[in-house]
Amino acid sequence: MGSDQKTNVALVQAALDAQRNAYAPYSKFHVGAAILTNDGETFVGCNVENSSFGLTICAERVAATAAVANGSNKFEIIAIVSPGGVPPCGACRQFLAEFNPDIPILIVDSNHPKEIKEVSLTDLFPQGFRFFQE
Ligand code: THU
Repeated sequence: MGSDQKTNVALVQAALDAQRNAYAPYSKFHVGAAILTNDGETFVGCNVENSSFGLTICAERVAATAAVANGSNKFEIIAIVSPGGVPPCGACRQFLAEFNPDIPILIVDSNHPKEIKEVSLTDLFPQGFRFFQE
């Protein structure tokens, strides 16, 4: 599952770099994400909070929208880094499933960045909603 170790480490590093840009003055919980697309490009995101809390956007969806806006919607793998190494929220699972329901997810605790845990969205989010059933 996933790609080779060197690719994974580079993707985690991209997510760690993006985490530094997190705008999270309210929760102070900084998250970074990086998506590798099938054309070999990497797109990153960080969480962006707002005074109106409900408008907050997660790092994963920022990375996903950046990829799509740049013409790449075939997601190969995503790395997510956060304090403690949390799995993606439910909304992000649905959002990622749109583009790749089987996407491998690298989950990393930013306090232990060398420990890379890999899970599949298939396991985290089985039977997600699809507008068009195949
Ligand atoms: N957050 C993410 O960026 N990704 C997730 O999957 C879960 C939560 C952010 C949103 C908010 O800025 C902060 O973490 C606390 O919920």
